[in-house]
Amino acid sequence: MSKLKTVFCCQHCGAQFPKWMGQCTSCKSWNTIVEEVIQKPEKKNWSTGGANKNTATPLKVSEIALSNEQRISTQDSELDMVLGGGLVKGAIVLLGGEPGIGKSTLLLQVALNTQVKVLYVSGEESQQQIKMRAARLKQQNSDCLIFTESNTATIFKAIEQTQPAMVVIDSVQTLHTSNIEASPGSVSQIRETTAEFTKFAKETGTPVLIIGHITKNGAIAGPKILEHMVDVVLQFEGDSNHIYRLLRAHKNRFGSTSELGIYEMQSTGLRAVENPSETLVLQHQQHLSGTAIASTLEGMRPLMIEVQALVSSAVYGTPQRSATGFDLKRLNMLLAVLEKRANFKLGAKDVFLNITGGIKIQDPAIDLAVLCAILSSSLDLAIPKLVCFSAEIGLAGEIRPINRVENRILEAQKLGFEKIIVSSHNKLAVNKFNIEVIPLGKVEDLLNVLF
Ligand code: TYD
Ligand code: MG
Repeated sequence: MSKLKTVFCCQHCGAQFPKWMGQCTSCKSWNTIVEEVIQKPEKKNWSTGGANKNTATPLKVSEIALSNEQRISTQDSELDMVLGGGLVKGAIVLLGGEPGIGKSTLLLQVALNTQVKVLYVSGEESQQQIKMRAARLKQQNSDCLIFTESNTATIFKAIEQTQPAMVVIDSVQTLHTSNIEASPGSVSQIRETTAEFTKFAKETGTPVLIIGHITKNGAIAGPKILEHMVDVVLQFEGDSNHIYRLLRAHKNRFGSTSELGIYEMQSTGLRAVENPSETLVLQHQQHLSGTAIASTLEGMRPLMIEVQALVSSAVYGTPQRSATGFDLKRLNMLLAVLEKRANFKLGAKDVFLNITGGIKIQDPAIDLAVLCAILSSSLDLAIPKLVCFSAEIGLAGEIRPINRVENRILEAQKLGFEKIIVSSHNKLAVNKFNIEVIPLGKVEDLLNVLF
């Protein structure tokens, strides 16, 4: 009998080492190296000896029959949109997110809502707990089966018996297969169990939705190869202290990754937010200094966002800069631009920035609103009501054009704004809109227009 071979494997990046170390030399994380048992394949040169008999032969693209893409609706408009129009048969979808953000809630809701038979497998909660949650969600699909198990062989047996049209796994870190010895949640177990489900999904055409935990850096816990193996990687994000949750696709083999789904966490579960702009800007009724509205675009979806800034004299020696929902480095850059190009001395001031609703925006078009909110707070002058902004700021203090500016202008117009400030480099026919479009070229010009 051959001796068991073990290898020391970093749980963070998947690098392998012959002996234990405190720090992974590959990704530099501490205490992530764990001993795992491996079955080394026999070394061989390439040969056709072990080839499968009767498998598919290579075909020309023109010879492959196009099955009309069959998508299953999850009955959740936001999730369907992010997936690119529903769940493709045989797709394997990985959903990642912080603990407590609502991953289990989202997928249980899908399981209870969709019209097809679903097997919801949980290795984290008991049937009682899931029942209690389902009772809160108040939607009923009589064809939703709940199964608490973590052994893949047992799960496949249950699938064989019940023949579901969709499988939900909560979560990949609890799964284990008896084919390998490592403990659940280890890199090799995650890789192996996901491979088993991928194979199952491809062979039977049953879509599988898998929940994955994330590490404290925000990446899905486990080897990077996990993200390569699956068809779709979704990320559920948001601040768990706020009610809004954003669903983004980081990878999607069946659609674009630019769509964004927005949910609101309520006592009866997650509710899709259909017109997010109205909800997010509604609070802007008072006339206060330090707030500015940006017209941004997330995917194909225009979104009006309120930016708040507070500039005050620093009490301590080193001024503080803090940003919620915005990149701190970008904030520092904008402050430097203000200092150099608009002659605003903010070096001895504390600057706090907040994007309302706890939403993280990736669109650079929010820059101009951030800058105006800072200006407004530092001068203590309110920005006139019903004015909004949409442009990127360059290092030379130039107001840079952004893509699809017309969609942004139309969204502002729809919500009843009177003026929108954009870059003068956007080639626009300004008089075709019912909203006053003000094109500006430089940061210096802002003050004259605003106050
Ligand atoms: P959960 O789905 O358990 O998060 P995850 O699986 O991502 O760890 O969501 C837990 C949070 O959601 C919990 O803190 C309470 C909140 N919640 C509601 O506000 N309303 C609800 O109807 C449900 C089911 C959960
Ligand atoms: Mg959960």
